[in-house]
Amino acid sequence: MNGILITGGAGFIGSNFVRAFMRRYPKVDVHVLDALTYAGNPANLSPEIHENPRFHFWYGNVCNPGIVGDLMEQVDTVIHFAAESHVARSIYDNAVFFQTDVLGTQVIANQVLRHRKRIKRFIHISTSEVYGTALSEPMTEEHPLDPLTPYAAAKCGADRLVYSYIRTYGIPAVIIRPFNQYGPYQHLEKCVPRFVTSALDSTPITIHGDGSAARDWCYVSDTCEALMATLEAPLDCVVGEVINIGTGVAADVGTIARKVIDLKGDQMQPVTHVEDRPGQVDLHISSTEKAQRLLGWKAATDLDTGLERTMNWYADNEHWWRGQEWMKHVQLTLVNGQKVLH
Ligand SMILES: NC(=O)c1ccc[n+]([C@@H]2O[C@H](COP(=O)([O-])OP(=O)(O)OC[C@H]3O[C@@H](n4cnc5c(N)ncnc54)[C@H](O)[C@@H]3O)[C@@H](O)[C@H]2O)c1
Repeated sequence: MNGILITGGAGFIGSNFVRAFMRRYPKVDVHVLDALTYAGNPANLSPEIHENPRFHFWYGNVCNPGIVGDLMEQVDTVIHFAAESHVARSIYDNAVFFQTDVLGTQVIANQVLRHRKRIKRFIHISTSEVYGTALSEPMTEEHPLDPLTPYAAAKCGADRLVYSYIRTYGIPAVIIRPFNQYGPYQHLEKCVPRFVTSALDSTPITIHGDGSAARDWCYVSDTCEALMATLEAPLDCVVGEVINIGTGVAADVGTIARKVIDLKGDQMQPVTHVEDRPGQVDLHISSTEKAQRLLGWKAATDLDTGLERTMNWYADNEHWWRGQEWMKHVQLTLVNGQKVLH
């Protein structure tokens, strides 16, 4: 590998990936491109990383072809995380989701195409949200696509855009569909950190609907391992493929809340229920067969271990998340006109 461009490397999964990647490949130049939206924070990467001569941080937007093109002249590998990533926020204010997630991905794909002689591998980070609710269990990569929210629709557009570039122009892309992620450095707007920090503060844990919506929860460092396996797999094994990254185990949101309360050890912890989110996915559970076959990867962290590690991290890093509390909830207008804080 001769240099990697990591978009969105100041966000949750991106920063975990940068850390894991630089440990594994200390001699490869890393270029992070990040627009530092409310979800991106350069402090998600340690001062040692920022000071490493192999590390280059570029503040900029993936929608800018000039910046993206310049960076592609310095690398042969691209991994594209940058996106607007919060489902509830996409219901509240969806325009930027289509700009960044679809048109930003088009810029990345166009620049991969323009630099096709140099770029050997392009990993596009899609999401399980493209599937909608499971029609069959576990969900394979052939499951029909049925995005239910503007976030899911934008990510689905990006996913199919990359696929079309593979089929039409032959770009060396792999499409990865991670299921629900959790772990250190995840913004407080997301379910697990919201529950964990509410428990740490003994303020109410807010559950959308009755808590029966179930997801496949994958610990972020396991996902980073899967992504590095995607970088290391023989090119002809993975190029053109869509690969799910999940554990093959589902747990509902009510169970996550109970596990967090048990970890805190405070059975008096208040829990409140609000109206369910519009476009809610009832069930996600990933097939693990293709990731195992093509990448030799299987999730190593079970839910109890991952939640305990996550809770410990938030307990030890209060300074990191205190400033985000005002963004824990988004006000949504439901179809019946009712306004709900989600
Ligand atoms: N978090 C999950 O559960 C999950 C699950 C499946 C897939 N994904 C996907 O993984 C990727 C990363 O998710 P995350 O949870 O780390 O997101 P995040 O919101 O924590 O981070 C996104 C990063 O992208 C940057 N960014 C946003 N718009 C940009 C732009 N126009 N130009 C450059 N940078 C920009 C932000 O500043 C931030 O650093 C996304 O593509 C997301 O759709 C996330």
